[in-house]
Amino acid sequence: MLRRLHSEQPDSFAFTAANQAWAEAQLTKFPEGRQASGVIPLLWRAQEQEGWLSKPAIESIADMLGMAYIRVLEVATFYFMFQLKPVGSVAHIQICGTTSCMLCGSEDLIGICQEVIAKNAHEISADGKFSWEEVECLGACTNAPMAQIGKDYYEDLTAEKFRDLLKAFENGEVPTPGPQNGRFAAEPLGGLTSLKDKTGEAANGSVALANALGDTIKRIQGDEVPIITKPKPKTKTAAAAGQGPTMLDGPREGGGDDLKKIKGVGPKLEADLNDKGVWHYDQIAAWTEAEVKWADDNLVKFKGRVSRDDWVGQAKLLAEGGDTAFSKKVDKGDVY
Ligand code: FES
Repeated sequence: MLRRLHSEQPDSFAFTAANQAWAEAQLTKFPEGRQASGVIPLLWRAQEQEGWLSKPAIESIADMLGMAYIRVLEVATFYFMFQLKPVGSVAHIQICGTTSCMLCGSEDLIGICQEVIAKNAHEISADGKFSWEEVECLGACTNAPMAQIGKDYYEDLTAEKFRDLLKAFENGEVPTPGPQNGRFAAEPLGGLTSLKDKTGEAANGSVALANALGDTIKRIQGDEVPIITKPKPKTKTAAAAGQGPTMLDGPREGGGDDLKKIKGVGPKLEADLNDKGVWHYDQIAAWTEAEVKWADDNLVKFKGRVSRDDWVGQAKLLAEGGDTAFSKKVDKGDVY
């Protein structure tokens, strides 16, 4: 497909103040002189803000990154995820038309897009609210047919269900993403045949997160309030009983630390530690002498390993963002 800039362009582009701050923060991730590495995240944020990428947006990002306009244009025109034309003000619908989805009815969904939105892909509906396109496999083949709407996947669609979704979006609602046929995730249609334990959760992790974020079709301004307030991990009973250090029921938001960077902790021991409630460097760094002794006796198979390898000292360095000789080896992939 020929991908080129839209024939009508706005006069200018500017990130919102919060998006500008976000973009500048992204650039600090890269070594001096390598700011061009931020081109995709910045283009993506511009698209999240505007819905599509205009010529002024591409040039403005090129200026921020010290890149030639043509280099940024190359990136924007190469990746199909970048929209080079304005999209519907409410949502841009991406229908997967690859094998599984095609066999399961994606052509019906495309027919509905042509009927309800616009005859041609990338054309905006008469009311300006929607646009659509057919895309290649989005990796949710088990839940075919599916569509990506805004940031989220709507799966296990039928023509009828898809019409309902469009109607709901038109009415200002944001229907719950994920499987639309009652499936929890990608389990067999006839139900589970093994590992039948129910988690007790109403929605799978992706759907729960999408619901919590609530930004399925939102244009991102950069000042969105933090989205998820996870309950604070509770402490486990061993600590409560005064037998050992404070343990957590799970990692804090953002996930646990890579405990394998501590010399003496391999993948198996890391899993055991997580299981017992140790997830973060700062937990270990705070262990008292008595707690180290308790850990030596209770947390490791080879007694004395915690003190012998000075886990507390290693963890203190790692918690502060530093490295140890061993963690550097792990980072280089020299530890197996
Ligand atoms: S074929 Fe449609 S998601 Fe893979």
